Amino acid sequence: MEATHLINQKNILVTGGAGYIGTHTLVELLSSGCQVVVIDNLSNASRKALRRVEMITGKTVTFIKGDVRDRTLLRSAFQGYEIDAVIHFAGLKSVNESVEDPLNYYDNNVTGSLALIEVMSEFGCKTLVFSSSAAVYGDPANVPVNERESLSPTTPYASSKLMVENILRHVHVSDPAWSIAILRYFNPVGAHVSGLIGEAPNGMPSNLMPYVSQVAHGKYQKLKVYGDDYDTPDGTGVRDFIHVSDLASGHTAALEKLFCSSLSTDQGEILTLNLGTGRGYSVLEVIDAFQKASGRLIEYEVVERRPGDAAKSYADTSLAFDLLGWTAKHDINRMCQDSWRWQSMNPEGFESDK
Ligand code: NAD
Ligand code: WQD
Repeated sequence: MEATHLINQKNILVTGGAGYIGTHTLVELLSSGCQVVVIDNLSNASRKALRRVEMITGKTVTFIKGDVRDRTLLRSAFQGYEIDAVIHFAGLKSVNESVEDPLNYYDNNVTGSLALIEVMSEFGCKTLVFSSSAAVYGDPANVPVNERESLSPTTPYASSKLMVENILRHVHVSDPAWSIAILRYFNPVGAHVSGLIGEAPNGMPSNLMPYVSQVAHGKYQKLKVYGDDYDTPDGTGVRDFIHVSDLASGHTAALEKLFCSSLSTDQGEILTLNLGTGRGYSVLEVIDAFQKASGRLIEYEVVERRPGDAAKSYADTSLAFDLLGWTAKHDINRMCQDSWRWQSMNPEGFESDK
């Protein structure tokens, strides 16, 4: 699909925009000529990340510190800026934490989304991109997973994402003027090529790529590989790792599509799309690629499987290609190179430049 640049000059509200995927998407939005307003409560992010986005793009990010569950704050944002569309990243994302504290996860992820949708509706802003997750598929029966696969979330986190998906589908049925893209991300990794923004987990990372990066950097001695007896080519888990900058460009492509359909039909639409590369890599393949990218040895030991892990999950990405003309461009080597650059330049995340 030809880039139509319908998003040029649009005002986009980005909730959770100071976070990992949010900051990379801000770079794409600003580079596409959008103005951005970020609402973030900084529960898992730093104000410094937004300054780095400004350094990369040479453009200004308008920042409102606050919580998406706060309707008064949301209303003041819509009153202060003529918002054309919203990208809704704000939420909590740790699978383990969600098992320990489900109410907090439902409150943040579901109540926060409800407040946002209500206030958008009050202000007649009906164009929304929502961050969902491949977690809604649970342990998929078929790979590559397409969007019609049965949905069986196995954790409060995944369940909170599916609840919001369903709310959005019902909102669209009740008012077809809404233009909504539900994007199911697979495994976002990597960092902006500048090394200025990237993933900055609090404490010990639970995800593979940040853990591998920190082992390469010497913060942890060795990686635990969770099981090598899966039904996969080398026995370790297989995932669809996608470069965060590719994921970010998927958001601008989705917004273009939403603006395009509402222009041409006077009606909105609801899209549900996987964002992945369509290619799975095993844990051992990731270790190998990271060793090459970093020139460091990654020590590891194989331990028991992690409860709840799927053997393999990778996306059928044909729908995103057919509808958005979008496809991921960066391979696993590039993902590891960019993760390593970010890790080396910012060993303590955004606190490195204190
Ligand atoms: P992140 O934690 O880096 O970013 C989320 C941002 O939202 C943070 O800046 C946090 O401070 C903010 N936030 C959280 N709750 C808020 C609230 N109630 N009000 C205002 N701000 C709030 O996470 P991310 O990796 O950038 O993920 C962004 C979105 O994508 C999340 O909704 C996440 O569930 C979803 N997602 C992430 C992944 C992944 O592996 N990173 C995969 C699939 C889906
Ligand atoms: C990948 C592979 C592990 C760590 C999670 C969420 C999902 C989504 C993305 C938000 C698996 C193995 C990992 C380690 C290991 N997030 N591994 N040693 O579990 O696919 O997805 O992040 O929506 O909802 O569940 O990602 O990076 O944790 O694991 O061997 O120290 O690496 O067993 O096979 P996962 P991950």
